[in-house]
Amino acid sequence: MQNSLIRSTGYWVPPNVITNDELVASYNAYATRFNSRHADAIAAGEAEAVPLSSSEFIRNASGIERRHVYEKTGILDIDSMVPRIPPRPIEAVSVQAEFALKSVQIALDKAGYEGSDIDGVIVASSAQQRNFPAVSCEIQEAIGASGFAFDMTMACAAALYGLNLANGLIRSGQAKRILICSPELMTCINVHSRREVHFIFGDASAAMIVEADDGRPGGWDVLGTHTENKWSSALRSDYGFINVAEQSVDPAFAPHLDQDGHKVFKDVVGFAPKVARRMMQQIDLTPEDVRRTWLHQANIRMVDMIAKRILERDRTHENAPSILHEYGNTSSSSVVMNFDMHSDDMDVGETGVMCAFGAGYGVGAAAVRKRA
Ligand code: COA
Repeated sequence: MQNSLIRSTGYWVPPNVITNDELVASYNAYATRFNSRHADAIAAGEAEAVPLSSSEFIRNASGIERRHVYEKTGILDIDSMVPRIPPRPIEAVSVQAEFALKSVQIALDKAGYEGSDIDGVIVASSAQQRNFPAVSCEIQEAIGASGFAFDMTMACAAALYGLNLANGLIRSGQAKRILICSPELMTCINVHSRREVHFIFGDASAAMIVEADDGRPGGWDVLGTHTENKWSSALRSDYGFINVAEQSVDPAFAPHLDQDGHKVFKDVVGFAPKVARRMMQQIDLTPEDVRRTWLHQANIRMVDMIAKRILERDRTHENAPSILHEYGNTSSSSVVMNFDMHSDDMDVGETGVMCAFGAGYGVGAAAVRKRA
């Protein structure tokens, strides 16, 4: 068996920022206009008033203060509330592949590699912008990599499902160096006109290079990886190819994202630490052995509770850092970004645990140790 290691990571966030105040002003303008236009129906009980949002609620309930977005104007325009992205000709690189390549290049540069050094590309993200050809094939071609390429989804946990797969493929000798890309354009999936969810997501792209240990120094040994699922309907994005056959596409098409936030919170806070602890047990790792946990960033109270259950001690910014305030929930890219931003200060030989969780439900966990 060949051991695997994370050689490098990279992330990229768009420069456009939407603060809670800006988002709430736009949402409230939309709600107020809707309520005034439908005042008679609301008064007659034939329509429901759209409730107002507040920056204070968002900060207190989630820990999010702003988010970086691919395109800002369309999201804040109450006549659209989605990013405006011009269509591209099929000869052009796709939006999601281009977005991925920004973080891929950073990860390649950090490792000192060319694209041709890669022999496997996995796009592991919440969604891919088309059914086929796989976005990973486009990335493989763009960087000049060889070997295989495929796309996979497992919502916010996808990057660690990708790491789990890459670890297995390397250990079994099927690849030497795998690039895992998590390009997340969540503002294209989110519904900015729904108060329950309008504030949650931001856009970001992350990449990880995982390779066979050939004895060279640096990087992070992958000590163990583990993934588990438990079916739930409480967090859904219901649009896809079947919509056309079902004739369920609204002529005034809007994407759908639904969640029972309370249920997701409760279920995931129970499930995610159990999966991380099972991974730790598999490799005889105790909470005292773990200096830090890098968690998916969904909600600051979830980060607090999940960190405490994994580490068996109170969460601090040192033992479970958070990037929610600046980026919001960037889905699968968030755990990689968190690791990238908060790992340089760890000493050689120290161990950390990554844990990502989301719709499905799906939970991925991995333990890594800093190499000399
Ligand atoms: N602005 C102002 N008030 C709001 C609001 C908003 N945007 N959204 C909800 N409220 C109100 C509710 O109507 C409710 O009012 P009430 O008490 O009068 O009924 C109150 O605030 C509390 O709402 P609730 O939904 O109970 O809030 P919460 O504390 O559960 O926080 C989430 C909501 C979404 C932040 C939280 O449930 C969460 O983060 N869940 C997990 C979701 C998640 O992370 N999904 C991705 C997983 S990877």
